[in-house]
Amino acid sequence: MSLTSPRESGNGLRVARVTAATLLEQKRARRPIAALTAYDFPTAKLVDQAGIDMVLVGDSVGMAVLGYDSTLPVTMEEMLHHTRAVARGLQRALLVADMPYGSYQASDKDGVRNAMRFIKEAGAQAVKIEGGVRRAELVRRLYEAEVPVVGHIGLTPQAVHRMGGYRVQGQSVGAIEALYDDAAALEAAGAMAVVLEGIPREVAAEITARSGVPTIGIGAGPECDGQILVFHDLFNLTFAPAAKFTRQYADGAAFFAEALGRYREDVVGGTFPSDAESYHLRREVRESLEQMEVVGKA
Ligand code: KIV
Repeated sequence: MSLTSPRESGNGLRVARVTAATLLEQKRARRPIAALTAYDFPTAKLVDQAGIDMVLVGDSVGMAVLGYDSTLPVTMEEMLHHTRAVARGLQRALLVADMPYGSYQASDKDGVRNAMRFIKEAGAQAVKIEGGVRRAELVRRLYEAEVPVVGHIGLTPQAVHRMGGYRVQGQSVGAIEALYDDAAALEAAGAMAVVLEGIPREVAAEITARSGVPTIGIGAGPECDGQILVFHDLFNLTFAPAAKFTRQYADGAAFFAEALGRYREDVVGGTFPSDAESYHLRREVRESLEQMEVVGKA
């Protein structure tokens, strides 16, 4: 049996799957980790083929795809559904599923049971949970249950009400020390990586330097071991103002709007479908029908 679990890619080449060990090697070799969210089969395919190392089925699916105004309503069933679709589209990238609000906060037992569902039923290779010191015990239990965990500290959207909004974290000496403790506690408990969201660049740089596991930043500056963004932010598909830390790589909204407008015009103007885009009767059937005068001669 192979040690690297190669898979057949679409073009027939064998590709080695990214694992927690691959990301650790990248940190040690100072090769930045490129991570992105994906929520469905086509975007998973595109992201994988672009060579993205880690794909997160984020609970941001709630806002980006399902139209909720926060991530809080997202359910286990919704996350499992989207994770399965993404799993079917990936060959190489490491697949991380985000545990939704309510799936691990009430008890560690819930957390372990729900995390295992992502591995067993949806094809995830790891799960992500939000919180630092207060999640260390759960991370330890998940490690013992063979579930790799990505931690997530700083601006943690599931804590939006406690934080009083989506605010940059780590702004005072006390808050910065708490972040250092959070990162250290997650690493000690066995987390394979830690997402740092919405914290000052200097704080993220210090956590990254101290950490033995990769840090993946979002709004945390360039010194992190890797970067993650939400797919829809890259392509102007959020229908909301962009946050300071995002970068738009293409105007997906304009691209789709232009194509949709042309499609509508073609339908309304009667130019779609054309004869070439239509199916036709076989000649002998047509002739029989014509003889029966069921269809008129063209
Ligand atoms: O849900 C999500 O997409 C995330 C990333 C932004 C890190 O948690």
